[in-house]
Amino acid sequence: MTDSDGLRPEGVYSACGRRRKLTAVQPDNREEPTVTDTTVSEPAIAPATNRAAVEAFEARLVNALNEAGMLSLLSLGHRTGLLRAMANAEPRTSEAIAEAAGLAERYVRECLNGLVAAGVVETDPATGHYWLPTAHAARVTDAEGANLAVYAQFLPMLGAIEDDIVAAFRTGEGVPYERYARFHEVMAEDSAQTVLPALIEHILPLAPGLTERLEAGIRVLDAGCGRGLALQLMARRFPRSEFLGYDLSAEAIEYARKSAQAEGLTNIRFEVRDLSDFDRTAEPGRYELVTTFDAIHDQARPAALLAGIRRSLAPDGVYIAQDIRSTSHAHRDRDNPMGAFLYAVSCHHCMPVSLAQGGEGLGTMWGRERALAYLRGAGFSDVQVHELPHDIQNDYFVCRP
Ligand SMILES: C[S@@+](CC[C@H](N)C(=O)[O-])C[C@H]1O[C@@H](n2cnc3c(N)ncnc32)[C@H](O)[C@@H]1O
Repeated sequence: MTDSDGLRPEGVYSACGRRRKLTAVQPDNREEPTVTDTTVSEPAIAPATNRAAVEAFEARLVNALNEAGMLSLLSLGHRTGLLRAMANAEPRTSEAIAEAAGLAERYVRECLNGLVAAGVVETDPATGHYWLPTAHAARVTDAEGANLAVYAQFLPMLGAIEDDIVAAFRTGEGVPYERYARFHEVMAEDSAQTVLPALIEHILPLAPGLTERLEAGIRVLDAGCGRGLALQLMARRFPRSEFLGYDLSAEAIEYARKSAQAEGLTNIRFEVRDLSDFDRTAEPGRYELVTTFDAIHDQARPAALLAGIRRSLAPDGVYIAQDIRSTSHAHRDRDNPMGAFLYAVSCHHCMPVSLAQGGEGLGTMWGRERALAYLRGAGFSDVQVHELPHDIQNDYFVCRP
């Protein structure tokens, strides 16, 4: 590998400080190069003295690389339908699995071998058969409704935007939603697991009496509704109530409209709307229920949206917000089982999409403490925080005027 000026970096990382030594490359049949040595000085990095700590950290990094490899293969296996084709199936050859999944055998075999190395798939070298143990199928397919291969998609999806993020580190600018291919698709898959199965039985009952009011007929708004799955589920379950979903994304709203139409739901509407000025434009007292699912922290103006929600609530209305659980303090988030992952999502997505709207870039990990301060600032006098056993990633706030 050479630089554009024909200089090959040599000894790029030395043990004590990064000294980048450049040696001229001599192309075939050319004169001796005139440039023989150039050194770019950078501040020396002091060598670590605690070698045991270095080795322990190195082992962690090697393990992380390996586990990241497993996640990228699981993402492929999920998107291509390979994992689904292996659930509850007898041990088979890669040819038989590829045929059943409608995929190319060579790719299937490479992916299967990687998943064997990762300890996800089993193989019998004597027969060349592969199988997915049922205990693993339970968490990487839809067999039990907790398919963690869905979340594995976030890393490759966000990795695809890395060049934009690297550039943004220098300019400080944001990266708009439209740059993220597949975001709304993956987000809807995520919500289909964290919100939908718990919505009717566990989330709505957090506000006592709400289910009965929904049955009798009330007006409901979901702000930042994305593809609108939660709202559609409620519209189906509570035909006497009226449901409205707002989102900035025309693509997500079009998807929501089409799927509601395909289901023949007549008590639901979706509109493209930028909620950055909702504090001024919300119709006062209109809704008995407002919901947001994972939709406050990446807004341009989260405080304005919350103030608008407060303004739009009827005096006896309730606002239910699901948002990412964290402590609002990075050093305490070491105990969060998904802390580093969620900060990575924030750095690659939630913060830049807000900055791209000229917003405050609150970030995914704004946390419970800051959320409570924002909710109080928006004028809610009664805020209860709940944790639900099915969801280790989110807090649920039940707020009243
Ligand atoms: C993390 S997604 C959650 C989507 C959906 N509630 C779900 O759970 O699947 C956040 C949503 O907020 C929307 N959003 C971001 N900024 C917005 C704005 N200024 N006005 C309205 N919606 C916005 C995004 O388009 C996105 O659909």
